[in-house]
Amino acid sequence: MDFSTERLQYRGKTAIGRPTFSRPIKLALRDRIITSEKTVLDYGCGRGGDVSLLNSIGIDSVGWDPNHFADGIRLASDVVNLGYVINVIEDPAERVSVLKYAYSLANECLIVSAQTEATKPSKGVPYNDGILTTRKTFQKYFANEALRSLIESSTGARAFLVERGIFFVFKSEEARVRYALARLSRKSQFPSVRKLKSLKSSNDSSRDDVLISLAVERFRRSDILSSSRVSLLGCEEYFGSFENACNAADELLASLTNRAARMESMKGAPCGKMLPDSFYFHCSALRSMDIKIQTLVSCARTIADNIDGDFIVKIPKTGTGVSLLIYRDFENVPHPELMVSLLVDLEQRTLRTRSYSNSKNPPILHRKECFVLPDHPKYQAFRELTEVEEGLGLLSRSDIGFRKSWAAILKQISFDPNKFVSKKTINPDSYPHI
Ligand SMILES: C[S@@+](CC[C@H](N)C(=O)[O-])C[C@H]1O[C@@H](n2cnc3c(N)ncnc32)[C@H](O)[C@@H]1O
Repeated sequence: MDFSTERLQYRGKTAIGRPTFSRPIKLALRDRIITSEKTVLDYGCGRGGDVSLLNSIGIDSVGWDPNHFADGIRLASDVVNLGYVINVIEDPAERVSVLKYAYSLANECLIVSAQTEATKPSKGVPYNDGILTTRKTFQKYFANEALRSLIESSTGARAFLVERGIFFVFKSEEARVRYALARLSRKSQFPSVRKLKSLKSSNDSSRDDVLISLAVERFRRSDILSSSRVSLLGCEEYFGSFENACNAADELLASLTNRAARMESMKGAPCGKMLPDSFYFHCSALRSMDIKIQTLVSCARTIADNIDGDFIVKIPKTGTGVSLLIYRDFENVPHPELMVSLLVDLEQRTLRTRSYSNSKNPPILHRKECFVLPDHPKYQAFRELTEVEEGLGLLSRSDIGFRKSWAAILKQISFDPNKFVSKKTINPDSYPHI
């Protein structure tokens, strides 16, 4: 195969039909980057699914694609979407020129998305800095930070990580800060800036919230919270001055990798499972953990693509790491299987993702009540199942940690834990803290 002469045609094969909006467009609609007042250009629009869907809801959109819509219009627009295009381009120099050109067409915001290492398949022949897939298409799988630096060096603008592999690049600094602040107050597990401002009493928990927010911002080395803006957060009220608040936040950050401080926080935790080398708890209990654990997890989340939803936190007793473990339907499956582990090194600021979704024998969970607070809606149900399993002598065995051996044991004694599980499902999005 002569990949270089036929590359465009092969790239075209990467475009899929889209019956619903792509994730980057969904996020832009959710965050009101795209509204009915804005115009949109989908640059590298593939089969044009997003363009049709946007027009169908009254948003003035056009698309262009070298393979599928070569006659389309490359019209400068308020928002330009460059959706999963640069990852199909095998030539690094061309990625830069496409990014530059797409950015030049955006009046307000360029949305850039690309495949990330988390979705990299195990198969594929190495080609340049990516792989040739079994369909003979090229794919480059980016680490978030590599993608960010490619976008920033090509456009000369700062890129805002919205979700793994998805960045918004604003034309004006003011728009970027406005967006970042809005997200900070909306997405944060802590009270919004407005809510904090309106707090009259300087009780400990709101002081902690201010400190955690500031520590996370300093960990991100974000300049969003300049001293004038941060007065909104109540730093003067709780700490006397912005400088004092920054010092307290830096001390808090320094304590996160201190073994003795970590141990103290874990020992005082209101729930969680302490194993010989690590401490585990469910994210629904995060707000009840001490300030160090809350900060540790919040900092880790900024590196782990602001992971949302349902996860178990694993804090090793030593080191600078913390893992966020995503299990299959923690609430509703009696012994959920591990799907993805996100290992964040806070010192190195690195993220290592390990997917178990194709594993035939993933690790599984037992004794789920240990991970949650007693006021968790399913605490009692989790406990009852554990008591039954203890009564059957299952939980004292050493071979129950993985799917295959656990299934074999259950089969042997004809026991079905599903019979003990209530069918009522819980939506993890409803957790108040995430
Ligand atoms: C994976 S598809 C994504 C399509 C669409 N954005 C979506 O999300 O459904 C990648 C698209 O990039 C287009 N493409 C390849 N090289 C390009 C280039 N230099 N400029 C613009 N688009 C390109 C391909 O034709 C292909 O349709």
